[in-house]
Amino acid sequence: MAKFVWKTKYHIGDQTIDEQHAYLFDLANSIVNSKDKPSLVNNMMKLYRYVREHFSHEEQLMKQLHYGEYNEHVAMHNTLIDQLSAVSDSIGQDCWQEEELKTFMNEWLLGHILKVDSQLGAFIRSRRAAD
Ligand SMILES: [Fe+2]
Repeated sequence: MAKFVWKTKYHIGDQTIDEQHAYLFDLANSIVNSKDKPSLVNNMMKLYRYVREHFSHEEQLMKQLHYGEYNEHVAMHNTLIDQLSAVSDSIGQDCWQEEELKTFMNEWLLGHILKVDSQLGAFIRSRRAAD
């Protein structure tokens, strides 16, 4: 059963980014629904690869638009990547628990989208409205 449900309120107003975020939710669901360790490790790797792509897309866009918070946003991306790789490592060493993983994924996803990207979304919309 899906644990992470994509909602309209998570939209930041940029279609590509919103689609990428919705896909991050799919990947998070496949992680918490993994039936065994090999599929969990594999699904974590998929998320890791995808989120790097997603972050570099956002970073390019921020650069193009001369976003004033670029450095802070990139620093937050790097923190999110570090957190994800720390959890991946602990999964490799079997020191993770299902509930902890769900809580982590939830905070990780929503922390990224609601806190970090909602500000970026507002900026993108204002820039596009001004053009
Ligand atoms: Fe994002």
